Amino acid sequence: MNVITTVAEMIAQREHLPRPLGLVPTMGYLHEGHMTLARWARRDNRSVVASIFVNPTQFGPSEDFASYPRDMERDLQVLQAEGVDVVFAPTVEEMYPQGFSTYVNVERVTEVLEGARRPGHFRGVATVVAKLFTIVRPDRSYFGQKDGQQVAVVKRLVQDLNLGTEVVVVPTVREPDGLALSSRNVYLTPQERRAAPVLYRALSRVRDLYLAGERSAERLRQEAAGMINAEPLAKLDYISIADAATLEELAVVDRPTMVSLAARFGRARLIDNVVIGQG
Ligand code: PAJ
Repeated sequence: MNVITTVAEMIAQREHLPRPLGLVPTMGYLHEGHMTLARWARRDNRSVVASIFVNPTQFGPSEDFASYPRDMERDLQVLQAEGVDVVFAPTVEEMYPQGFSTYVNVERVTEVLEGARRPGHFRGVATVVAKLFTIVRPDRSYFGQKDGQQVAVVKRLVQDLNLGTEVVVVPTVREPDGLALSSRNVYLTPQERRAAPVLYRALSRVRDLYLAGERSAERLRQEAAGMINAEPLAKLDYISIADAATLEELAVVDRPTMVSLAARFGRARLIDNVVIGQG
């Protein structure tokens, strides 16, 4: 496995990598969710590049950029074991050199949910993802459904800027009790960790009600909110029932729909989602 830290080397290398090439963008501190993306990329492509870059532009001033968990040595071992060919791990100065002034702003789909609560977050995500696509030029790129709004933003970005990569969406990997794997789960105390599966229980309940015929977004939202508000350690931020592509809120679930939520457990802000109405 080749570890590359400069843009120039990555561009030189990409010309020698057999096609198709799959890219797995990450911020490191890898868990089974990231590894599943790498496995899918390995299965589908002749070359796999994984990137590890804690992207400062997608963190707000009061967010956890400085304290975001990092473990490069272990990450490299894990990616090697998954058969990744190249790891692209640039420094912040390499990606954002002095004078950097160009940002990618995806409109509308970034303005709701996480975008409304984390100003500038998706501008940072879209900018770094556009840069990674331009540097690596992947035939396929792999993203987790866990970050459902990020998927919608990246799909819009690729379509609008003709970036020419196939966006492959990998289902959310969960703990046995339903909690979605996340690098930020390390922030949970043992008690909060025991409470956190309520999020997936609420999402599963919404899916079951939908499958039993309920189509009212309001009734589905009320049901999920009731379950989460009954958990004393959970502070619910939002529950959304929205068109899966545009993220416009729906009154009636009559199309592919993302049911997404965010809640705080102490220090940790957790997000999760399920997709319903896919036919
Ligand atoms: P990061 O949080 O490291 O996640 C990297 C990828 O792993 C994302 O596509 C994310 O959706 C996916 N992922 C995380 N947890 C998952 C889980 N439990 N199941 C399935 N997939 C999961 O997302 C980012 O980094 C950044 O925003 C990035 C796209 C790298 C841009 O900086």
